[in-house]
Amino acid sequence: MFDIELKPQEFQLFRSYIYEKVGISLSEQKTTLVKGRLNKRLNQLDITSFKDYYDYLVGDASGEELTFFMSAISTNVTSFFREAAQWSWLEGYLPQMAASKREKKLRIWSAGCSSGEEPYTILMFLQNHLHDFESWDIKILATDISSKVLSKAILGHYEPKHVEQLPKNVVIKSFEKVHEQNVLKYQIKPFLREKVMFRLYNLITDPFFIKNEFDMIFCRNVMIYFDEANRNNLIGRFTTLLPKGAPLFLGSSESLTSHKNSLKLLGSSIYQKI
Ligand SMILES: C[S@@+](CC[C@H](N)C(=O)[O-])C[C@H]1O[C@@H](n2cnc3c(N)ncnc32)[C@H](O)[C@@H]1O
Repeated sequence: MFDIELKPQEFQLFRSYIYEKVGISLSEQKTTLVKGRLNKRLNQLDITSFKDYYDYLVGDASGEELTFFMSAISTNVTSFFREAAQWSWLEGYLPQMAASKREKKLRIWSAGCSSGEEPYTILMFLQNHLHDFESWDIKILATDISSKVLSKAILGHYEPKHVEQLPKNVVIKSFEKVHEQNVLKYQIKPFLREKVMFRLYNLITDPFFIKNEFDMIFCRNVMIYFDEANRNNLIGRFTTLLPKGAPLFLGSSESLTSHKNSLKLLGSSIYQKI
């Protein structure tokens, strides 16, 4: 494999294109990441310079190369039961929310769901803390910009090392052991998988098709890539989809600088629609 140099002016081309197409601001520090993650792709395509790859990306009317590019450069780090303080808070909030839901229906959005650990954690949590879980009508919309992570999420296969650290009763109730090419994996049980609707969706540039309200929205560790205008815009859209009192969960390093009249901070990066 050849190590292809990414010149500053080439990086600027990608930077402007990605901002225009996807709304993500790539900082200068991302030069090494873009070069490192795309070198293999250029080699695969037999392309010898980043300028030629840029022309290839821009010229691909199908949008497939853009999806590939975004999958390669986005950071998909995630884990089950990430942000422990938020799950503790939810334990206190759940009984009151459940009591207000006579029709036993819950609608939740995991926006920027990566490989599925977040939406499946929501289900495992509800399975453990919601009385009479089976009788509830629960649907989770789980969206991401990366088709690669979504394929993994839909399959719901996870490494033993990531699953075996969860409480035993959670593992027994939510996973079954499967073999993928003779390698042991844990797969989320079908009755849980079918409650999640995974969709490819760009939070910044795709049309806003969602009309129904959600009982909770999770958008954790996603907006760190966005500039302030895009972040504020997205938060504004989230607030229109939350009824009064409903929570919006952000990542622990994220906080809001806008929408103070419609969202109140409850702690641990949890905001409540007021
Ligand atoms: C660091 S992961 C966070 C996953 C999960 N929410 C969590 O906190 O564990 C960020 C995810 O956001 C997705 N993402 C980044 N920009 C996006 C955009 N414009 N629209 C939708 N998803 C995006 C990435 O593909 C990635 O899977």
